[in-house]
Amino acid sequence: MGIYVEEDNFHMQTKNCSYIFRILEDKGLQQIYFGKKICRKNKYDNLSWYEKRGLELYTEKEKSYLRLGTIRQEYSSYGRGDFRHPAYQVKLKNGSRITELKYKSYEVNRGKKKIQGLPSVFAEEDSDVETLKIILTDELINLDVILNYTVFPKFDTIVRNVEFYNRGNEDLILLKAMSLQLDLPDANYDFIHFSGAWLRERNIYRTTLRPGIQGIDSIKYSSSHQQNPFFMLARLETTEFKGEVLGFNFIYSGNFQNIIEVDHFHTARITIGINTVESEFLLSRKDSFITPEAIISYTDKGFNTLSQQLSEFYKNHLMCSKFSKTSRPILLNSWEGMYYDFDDNKLLSLASKAKELGIELLVVDDGWFGKRKDDRTSLGDWNPSLDRFPKGIGEFAKKVHKLGIKFGLWFEPEMISLESNLYERYPEWLVKCPERLPAISRNQYVLDFTRKEVVDYIFNSMSKVIDEAELDYIKWDMNRYISDSYSANLSASQQMEFSHRYILGVYRLYEKLTVKYPDILFESCASGGGRFDLGMMHYAPQAWTSDNTDPIERLKIQYGTSYGYSISMMGTHVSDVPNQQTGRVTSLEFRSSVAYFGVFGYELDITKLSNEETTEIKEQIRFYQKYREIFQHGIFYRLRSPFMGSSVSWQVVSKDQSISIVAYYQMLNEQNPGFVRLYCMGLDENKMYSIDGFNEIFSGSELMYAGLNIFQKKYQDRTVAGTQDFLVDLFIINEMF
Ligand code: DGJ
Repeated sequence: MGIYVEEDNFHMQTKNCSYIFRILEDKGLQQIYFGKKICRKNKYDNLSWYEKRGLELYTEKEKSYLRLGTIRQEYSSYGRGDFRHPAYQVKLKNGSRITELKYKSYEVNRGKKKIQGLPSVFAEEDSDVETLKIILTDELINLDVILNYTVFPKFDTIVRNVEFYNRGNEDLILLKAMSLQLDLPDANYDFIHFSGAWLRERNIYRTTLRPGIQGIDSIKYSSSHQQNPFFMLARLETTEFKGEVLGFNFIYSGNFQNIIEVDHFHTARITIGINTVESEFLLSRKDSFITPEAIISYTDKGFNTLSQQLSEFYKNHLMCSKFSKTSRPILLNSWEGMYYDFDDNKLLSLASKAKELGIELLVVDDGWFGKRKDDRTSLGDWNPSLDRFPKGIGEFAKKVHKLGIKFGLWFEPEMISLESNLYERYPEWLVKCPERLPAISRNQYVLDFTRKEVVDYIFNSMSKVIDEAELDYIKWDMNRYISDSYSANLSASQQMEFSHRYILGVYRLYEKLTVKYPDILFESCASGGGRFDLGMMHYAPQAWTSDNTDPIERLKIQYGTSYGYSISMMGTHVSDVPNQQTGRVTSLEFRSSVAYFGVFGYELDITKLSNEETTEIKEQIRFYQKYREIFQHGIFYRLRSPFMGSSVSWQVVSKDQSISIVAYYQMLNEQNPGFVRLYCMGLDENKMYSIDGFNEIFSGSELMYAGLNIFQKKYQDRTVAGTQDFLVDLFIINEMF
């Protein structure tokens, strides 16, 4: 396993997968294979073969068999005969866009260093991880292009990115710079992506590839609620537990463009990178540009295996926070319970009640700063409101800490309100085009994070509060898409760099804060799940999954999200009823049973709980604390999809297979439904298990292969309208010793 340089090819091998390409006779690169592991060989003549086809162009008469349009390429250019969408495009001073990259040299190194300024994967030098650099060059214009590949053998994952170096004496313009290109020899795949909207994030869509362009992208300056950068290509017969599937993701939080092009020979070209809309990079003399990283992960054991391997991969090689592999606290967030209606006294009653219940972290959401009483003012003024905290936030935080509860605050660092001291002082920091009024969203505007001084200013003002309140947690929110992009700080020829430079500014602030405050747990958020991506996860190990806290809706959102992300990345809270987004009434039991499968918390006014509710919540907290390690870091299985019927099931199993929790949710009270057998996963077939509430002992094999009978749930409580539909069974499975 690792990187092998053979006579005629480069072969990257993981535990179960091979990726091979070779140098063509004209020094271009030809992709040979990506898929299930095959043996190493000096040459793969048969796989390297390509056909001469009519109407396809060639550049040298004597080599008329080299027709770019018929060859699967490693990093393609445009304009010399390959009419599929290219991986990159460079504009020369004379306006020409023709370049020809030829192989120059390679290097193999152990481990993987982080990329400066961009979230990226990492690995120690003494690990089994290796990095291959392929250096290509266009001699005519002195452009070097380096293709980087890092191979993570244990996780069947390869990470790629590209560097451009202008060694010449003329400025170049980078019109397109994809991070990854993969040309597959056939297009017999289903394209599975996770799309939605605000309050309806990451629902699953599966369609068979067809000729032409298909894909997902964002030009909202965030990875977005609408399209998530994660997607899969699976053989048509692939299911959760069987079949070949390729998972792709992009370590980036801004505009992206993940495209699959099926051409006239039924090959499939995948390109992943920064969106070409709103991006062009000036590559001055002696200057360089580095793309974000893209991930490919492979399995022939179905979607569930892919999700599990990605989840472990992220924890080991992507997430920097010390919390990525450790237990996260059970939190209480003030938002849905109080919105802007709080002061220190109210919050202290909340904290005391939280203490009584066993909650471990109090988070004061939006509204604690400046003159903020609603969403119209004060973004940018990160100084605690004296109306709400007359004795200062430091004093308040001390009281919370004294109760033995951790304390966290909400920030929206990238935003500015017109009604703010910050705007009065620095109106030029607001993102807008000269002489035009910028578009508004939620009464707020965007700070120009392409400017270093803006990032530094926000860093300093946040640091002041962090130090004063000795914060344990920060929720970093971002509540609007970015429009009117322009920076007075950039030259006219660099305005198209705004979108990328903006997100680099965001990463810079994250880097500064996480380095200075490694003990703070960060949770990212963008109106819920609008930036649920690997760029954010590099710094913040968890993200607020959605502003929709209705458990029925959450079943879909969390189920969809779990394909590409670990459940320990998902913030999941129990909120009040009727639910504030849908008006639906569900039981506390149902709400908590959905929220257990993630990073658990509450988001309601707990000072108003009845005695029965107090007792129930105490029990829920004890339960989650007991199984927290398994919920957050166990192995997750999807058993029954909410996208396919009216019941849902999922399961977590401890890594040693001794404990498992299975949840079966009924979303609709169907009358006289079909019988259901639920087949557990991930247990040891030879171990004996008990299940709480059953007077019977089960072998792992029985639970997995014969299954558990699920009896139709009947509603008990006729007094609460609506609750009859939403019933849940939680099976706690324990190994018998
Ligand atoms: C949007 C977030 O998703 C909510 O959880 C909350 O923090 C609000 N913003 C506050 O303005």
